[in-house]
Amino acid sequence: MSDTSLPPELYTALADLLGSSGFLTNSTDTASYCTDWRMLYQGKCAAVLRPATTADCAQAVTLCVQYGVPIVPQGGNTSMVGGATPDESGKAVVISTTRMNRILNIDHADLTMTVEAGVTLKAAQDAALKEGLMLPLSISSEGSADIGGILATNAGGNNTVRYGNARELALGLEAVMPDGAVLNVMRKLRKDNTGYALRQLLIGSEGTLGIITTAVIQLQPQPRTRETALCAVPNAKGALDLFAAFRKQDPAAIQAFEYMSGTSMGLVNALIDNCPLPLSEPAPAYALVELASPRADDSLRTLMEDVLGAAFESGLVSDAVLAESETQRQNLWMIREEHAEAQKRAGASVKNDVSVPLAAIPEFIEKATQACEALIPGIRVAPFGHIGDGNIHFNLVQPEGADPKGFLAQDHAMMDTVANIVRTLGGSFSAEHGVGQLKTYMMPSWRGGAELDGMRKIKAALDPQNLMNPGKIFPTA
Ligand code: FAD
Ligand code: MLT
Ligand code: ZN
Repeated sequence: MSDTSLPPELYTALADLLGSSGFLTNSTDTASYCTDWRMLYQGKCAAVLRPATTADCAQAVTLCVQYGVPIVPQGGNTSMVGGATPDESGKAVVISTTRMNRILNIDHADLTMTVEAGVTLKAAQDAALKEGLMLPLSISSEGSADIGGILATNAGGNNTVRYGNARELALGLEAVMPDGAVLNVMRKLRKDNTGYALRQLLIGSEGTLGIITTAVIQLQPQPRTRETALCAVPNAKGALDLFAAFRKQDPAAIQAFEYMSGTSMGLVNALIDNCPLPLSEPAPAYALVELASPRADDSLRTLMEDVLGAAFESGLVSDAVLAESETQRQNLWMIREEHAEAQKRAGASVKNDVSVPLAAIPEFIEKATQACEALIPGIRVAPFGHIGDGNIHFNLVQPEGADPKGFLAQDHAMMDTVANIVRTLGGSFSAEHGVGQLKTYMMPSWRGGAELDGMRKIKAALDPQNLMNPGKIFPTA
């Protein structure tokens, strides 16, 4: 028996239940489950449990609760807020869903996919594509993030502007509740008004109210035409004006509309292989626009050329490249999707995943940039994001040559500086990444009073021992 804090009887019961590939206690095997993608947190766990079925997951939860052992649900472990990382006590177990990885059904009549929580988003997208359908959720981490984590965080991403967040796509789910009971609301219904929609409570709960094990996801017909262009614009306001021009012509055609600042693009071009700037010269800002239609005609190309033509004439767009092939389209998307990795390579960074009303974005970026540059001279302000739905990743990269530790030590000062401006503009301090453990300290001042009180009462009712992902969402009282 390796150095685990688990009581021997629990150890034996879990080992018998889950077997050698489902029960990990050796620190070499558990290490990767105990740190996060940004390497902000280094936790410790008593064991990693990898059940292969909902029944085994329910039994494992029941056993852990009997012994008062905390549980940290984990999917692809791509959280940006330390949500899936255990604390340093070594008392908790991580329950990983990665072995629950079957696609159970694709229904062409109801346009749904029934899928286990451990299936990666990419694998689910590919399965839909093979059937001529589309799973309309796309995030840069889709190769690792899985369906359970996507729902638990109510992930957004590149296509929210057209199809909504994960919450809008989930018709049904199954989950193991904090007492080990299995909640089965696996329905394919668009209409079902029968009391509280508990699935909506679990979506976005970040693993604090139960472990999602299976889900029913809405699909769409696969687009038959797509037009993708990268455009040089003067600033975020320019990107918004271009967005408005496309929306005026045909709002339903917009599949994605992403903004990238000159600084964030520069980091990608400099630090990521095979991601050169595909335009004649650097610009202050960029917009990546993707149009899509289930119709196989050239109306999208006409729409793209009309709007960009007018934008060139008015000086709104100074340069642009239109993808002429699927490879070119993927190359343009790679530039956008490598932003997070480029910022990781550039040094220490503080992420501010915020949202404000669209019209407030230019003012937000201007004020927050000035405030952060005053706070830390030489800071590299590198915003980008899903501007079409008001979500800006106002990310701050350490000054060149600065001490990473010293920079990160001021993370709250930077986060509060940005958040206070977001607050004045009626925005949110967390648009899509969630609260995790990184932003719990913000909850009382942002969601205090009846809202936080209500959340605490629901948590206490469903998880009276506070064993399900403790230390996440809620600041320690
Ligand atoms: P994990 O990181 O494993 O867990 C995330 C949270 O969900 C944790 O609180 C965990 O306890 C809980 N959880 C995990 N699985 C379950 C389950 N089965 N049941 C209950 N709770 C569970 N996010 C976006 O929204 N949009 C983006 O555009 C985006 N881009 C990203 C780009 C990069 C490069 C990276 C690294 C991350 C990005 N993210 C983005 C953040 C992250 O990928 C999402 O939050 C994703 O939904 C997390 O899924 P996961 O499976 O990795 O979950
Ligand atoms: C993305 O959209 O690429 C991520 O959510 C953003 C980030 O890394 O901050
Ligand atoms: Zn994002």
